[in-house]
Amino acid sequence: MPAHGADQGKRRLTAAETERQKSIAAEAAVAEVQPGMLVGLGTGSTAAYAIAALAARVAEGLSVTTVVTSDRTAVAARTGGIPVRDMAEVSALDLAIDGVDEIDPRFRAIKGAGGAMLREKLVATAATRMIAIADASKAVEALGARPVPVELLAPARAFITASVMRLGGEAVLRVSSGAPVRTDQGNPILDCHFGAIADPAALAAELAAIPGVLGHGLFVTEVDALYLGTPDGLIQRN
Ligand code: 5RP
Repeated sequence: MPAHGADQGKRRLTAAETERQKSIAAEAAVAEVQPGMLVGLGTGSTAAYAIAALAARVAEGLSVTTVVTSDRTAVAARTGGIPVRDMAEVSALDLAIDGVDEIDPRFRAIKGAGGAMLREKLVATAATRMIAIADASKAVEALGARPVPVELLAPARAFITASVMRLGGEAVLRVSSGAPVRTDQGNPILDCHFGAIADPAALAAELAAIPGVLGHGLFVTEVDALYLGTPDGLIQRN
């Protein structure tokens, strides 16, 4: 079924077409950056296109400052010549641009496949405007096919796993090469599988209230706009 009007169901897309969708969404978002803005830069393969597009504008003389949502985004931004400020000194910013793992028609989203959801939510919340950028595969009618990542205090792992089970989910420790994945902050991640999420706002509040949860990837109010690359071009929803 086409999601959000993006007619993505007709044929299997090539990897190159998916990358093209990511880039047109990212470039449209970066076109909104005005001189002097403080911009939050997201994490992931779609955000990487935004960083590249912003680096090109900076090379042409655009004056901007940014904050970043991960260490790898900091490296990419600085490599591209983009000025980066310490988020610890920033209480508000003009615009945030970031990818999503899933987004529904009400701009509720799951983020954090890249493990950066804690700082991504901080930056998205501090921003006056947050633009989600994505290829058409990310647009869904209901959230929950993808897990909700939770960054946690390590000693709370069993307690949080049981709490997630009480909420109807299954928490799986994120592992890579046989070792727990650690976030940039040094914390483990539980990927929490709920299936279709009937009430994202309620679940977001329940997860946030569990002691030991440092942050989670369910975004219910932070996204203000969606720029979606589709086989038929860009769809902008504000
Ligand atoms: C990282 C994120 C990413 O924005 C999200 O996973 C989308 O990534 P990609 O653009 O590579 O599909 O939330 O924590």
